[in-house]
Amino acid sequence: MDGKADSRKPGRQKILYAVLLALSLGSLAGTALMGRSREVILIFDEAVPVAFLTGIVSTVGNLCAILMVNTIKKTGFLTAVTLLAVQLVILLFGLLAERRSSALPGLFSVVLVIIAVIMVYSREKRLDRYQTAELDAVKARQKATELLFEQTATALVNAIDAKDVYSRGHSLRVAEYASRIAGQMGKSEEECRQIYYAGLLHDVGKIGIKNAILTKAGKLNSEEYEVIKQHALIGRQILSGITAYPYLSIAANFHHERYDGRGYPEKLKGEDIPEIARIIAVADAYDAMSSNRSYRSAMPQQLVREEIVKGAGTQFDPEVARAMQHLIDVDEEYEMKERQEVRELAGKDELVCTELRNEVSEGILITFCVTRIRVRSVPEAMPEGAEESGAGIPTLILFDSLDGRYHDEPKTIRDLNYFEYAEIRFDGESSITGARNIMTEVEPSPSGAAEGPGKTGEKSYCLEMARLKDHVLITIDDGETLLRVTVAMPDSTRYAYAALTGAYCHLKNVSIDITLDRIREGDIQRIAPEISYVNGPAGDLPNVQIDGFRSAATQGVPITDGLRLRFHTMSLPTARLIWHCPFISVYSSENGKIKGPGFHEFALVRLDGENWDDRDDGIVNELTVDRKDYFIGWDAWKEKNKAGFDCTVTFERKGSGVTVTTENFGIFIRNTTYIDGGRKLFTAITGDQCALTDIRIRTA
Ligand SMILES: [Fe+2]
Repeated sequence: MDGKADSRKPGRQKILYAVLLALSLGSLAGTALMGRSREVILIFDEAVPVAFLTGIVSTVGNLCAILMVNTIKKTGFLTAVTLLAVQLVILLFGLLAERRSSALPGLFSVVLVIIAVIMVYSREKRLDRYQTAELDAVKARQKATELLFEQTATALVNAIDAKDVYSRGHSLRVAEYASRIAGQMGKSEEECRQIYYAGLLHDVGKIGIKNAILTKAGKLNSEEYEVIKQHALIGRQILSGITAYPYLSIAANFHHERYDGRGYPEKLKGEDIPEIARIIAVADAYDAMSSNRSYRSAMPQQLVREEIVKGAGTQFDPEVARAMQHLIDVDEEYEMKERQEVRELAGKDELVCTELRNEVSEGILITFCVTRIRVRSVPEAMPEGAEESGAGIPTLILFDSLDGRYHDEPKTIRDLNYFEYAEIRFDGESSITGARNIMTEVEPSPSGAAEGPGKTGEKSYCLEMARLKDHVLITIDDGETLLRVTVAMPDSTRYAYAALTGAYCHLKNVSIDITLDRIREGDIQRIAPEISYVNGPAGDLPNVQIDGFRSAATQGVPITDGLRLRFHTMSLPTARLIWHCPFISVYSSENGKIKGPGFHEFALVRLDGENWDDRDDGIVNELTVDRKDYFIGWDAWKEKNKAGFDCTVTFERKGSGVTVTTENFGIFIRNTTYIDGGRKLFTAITGDQCALTDIRIRTA
């Protein structure tokens, strides 16, 4: 509102200035004209010379000049002085050149007005200076209060962190995520700031919980859980004293309420839960899942996202959940999770290995860009009687897992889809686990690639790794020989990570560089045929295998009213998430191909019903996603996708609207896009990690 009032002010001032200027100029011209007139006019039957009226007319001009200074400050002052100076010159000319003594009173009055104008202007300027100084002082006081509040809040948060080391940094991250969600939801800067502080202090009530319960490593019993639940109420009580910021205690009190009414402390439901608490609840859950805890390591970002999708409408406010999902989607660098110091070898540049696989580094992702690893290996003394083949030699484990880490516990292997391809020893010995084939070639080392063995059996290695579709190439150069190891993975949809380990060796000075050198087709020799999941019979369009997010699409089909697409879809063996399913694209392009020249996409309808309307082209999509009573649940939905099913998508074209409808296992989706003009529109099926076969086109 303030902004609007301010924006109206300059407009009004301009009008006032124009009126005053017109009056002033008019009176100037009138005075000059009347001053020379020898005519008389009748006023109350008295003959009055017109020249007498100059006093009245010039007073109007002088008044306008004073008003201009008073209201339009600098511009008004300059205009007024200019006009008065002109008036002064005219009057002086009349007095001296034309010897008109009638100009004398006017001359005095103009001089007086000039003095008045200067006094008014300097008073205004003093007032302005005073107001600015006063405003600056208020701002400084406000800033100091904010700083004091921030420091007090941080001190409180540090007190919670000191009590509960396992969730260190949690409050700060929740504050950060909550204000980002609020921003995504279109909240103002001030609202985001309030939400930030509410997030910072949401768990302040934990100060009042006994340490023994708060930091208990095992599962809490029901009594202990009841005690923990008290932190919401204690937080409310602590923060209710801050009357200037009532939202703080509201957020602390209600941040454990659930959208379906199964939360605590008051079992509020849906919109009855204050919005600030609904936002913090999502931020809180996101951080809890994406952070390391004493009893488990952080969940992978994609699984966290899936939990938020599953919880939308039950645990979380669907709108807030959607905002969070979007933030995760645009966070390609994984900045929005607990900052991992661990980048290489668990934060260090060395690894001391005893028995093989006792110590294993973090996984290093292998991509189409060459990753170069340099490592120095020093043999470690073996205990007496111990036998280990390959002692003193480093080894690489090649694998895929949801969190990019090596695992050997059966449960984690299952939960995090750990899948091992092969083990490659730096002397060329290798063994296959899940890979389809492995080939090792030996060449002499190109000179100077690495140092030779040192006195104590030390050896420096330079590794280069890259991947092309389902093949990985690793070169190991020890200064004497260069090993070229090619591994054929089960298919091209999995990730490939490499982790360093070894037997009785001390790996030192490890450096990992991801270069910008891209590997090209033909750089890796194929040692196994390409696996295809679309070998079945084709329908009206060729079958399509989509290995990654929108990595492939069917041919385009012109959209006509009554068009029906029927196809068989099966998610690939590596698919593990809800959105590993087909997406329907509605677009236009010059050659009818998806991503063809002039490509413009109007809608992307995903079979899981997720949609983020983040367009900036003004296109409106009306999406209805209905979970029917017979919806089978997301886990069963994923199973159905794995097994494969026939899907039908229908299209309606009426006026400017294009409607896409489909229903699969209780998820009903209808999306209408409004597109101006009679553009030729096409549809194509794309998706993520799925195989599309037997695609049939039926037109009405
Ligand atoms: Fe909490």
